[in-house]
Amino acid sequence: MNKQSVIFPEALETSLQQAIESCYPDKLFILTDQTTRHLCWPAIQSFACLKTAGHITIGAGDEYKTLDTLAHVWQELGRAGATRHSMLINLGGGMVTDLGGFAASTFKRGIAFLNVPTTLLAMVDASVGGKTGINFNGLKNEIGVFNTASSVLIDTHFLQTLDSQNLCSGYAEMLKHGLISNERHWAELINFDLRQADLPRLQQMVATSVAVKERIVENDPLEQGLRKALNLGHTVGHAIESLALAEQRPVLHGYAVAWGLICELYLSHTKAGFPIDRLRRTQQFIRDNYGTFLFDCKQYDRLYEFMTHDKKNTAGTINFTLLGNIGDIRINQHATREEIFEALDFFRETIG
Ligand code: GLY
Repeated sequence: MNKQSVIFPEALETSLQQAIESCYPDKLFILTDQTTRHLCWPAIQSFACLKTAGHITIGAGDEYKTLDTLAHVWQELGRAGATRHSMLINLGGGMVTDLGGFAASTFKRGIAFLNVPTTLLAMVDASVGGKTGINFNGLKNEIGVFNTASSVLIDTHFLQTLDSQNLCSGYAEMLKHGLISNERHWAELINFDLRQADLPRLQQMVATSVAVKERIVENDPLEQGLRKALNLGHTVGHAIESLALAEQRPVLHGYAVAWGLICELYLSHTKAGFPIDRLRRTQQFIRDNYGTFLFDCKQYDRLYEFMTHDKKNTAGTINFTLLGNIGDIRINQHATREEIFEALDFFRETIG
């Protein structure tokens, strides 16, 4: 997989123009969803480099991350005469960068694409690292390929268009990056006031956070080893997300990850000696900023069942990434059903 160039532009117009020119595209297309079409496209539509770009808009939200939407993008590209030398610019959150990246990677066996993420979640996670895809058969990101964007342009001015819940959602992935990297980054994240977010400071932390992810992805682009560190919080997190969806009380991905982090740090504490004071500080930050997810012990079996279906598992064993300390990553860890239930007890007793 090619190394991706991640740019924090001083002037988005100049950086975008350079990123486009470096690929010599014959035609340009810009992909937005209904939300970014209204909120983000106006900020860049006057750019000279986009004057001739064709525009494709798709529905907003994970429910549109489908084969039908993908086919619509392929159709629009074909209808407008896109060739193998054309380029797609994905302007949006993770759904747009994932689906757009997959559409570009498969159209005529692959055309170049750029990601311009507009949500915090997409800036620090989805748009970086080459995972592209769609949901299929009721399963999230079931179909897709690893393929990097030619460039990812991260302009945190777009965060001004984001509501506080989506800001918190993206911040959970940053917290995860703090936990898997070093004490200093974790401490600055834990001490940040998310309710009155200081955007210049957040911008610096986004750059640190992206660097954490880039370092890992560079080392293990296809997730055969170290990249599994990025799954911290996600085994329980995905189960909570799936339970919430099944019970028709959906939660944002980052909220489920934040709650999953509490359970998986508890497992890290009991199984790998993760320090209790850091567990408590992280758990307090999550309780204060994310609230809780209510469930009782009758739902433990269902949560466990969701964990057994996680696509990160091998040979039917639930796979966890745990920590011995901040930055001390232990991949391919296992826990018994009883240990997992104890972590769920801890969650309910401390923030439930
Ligand atoms: N979102 C986790 C990864 O990119 O590997």
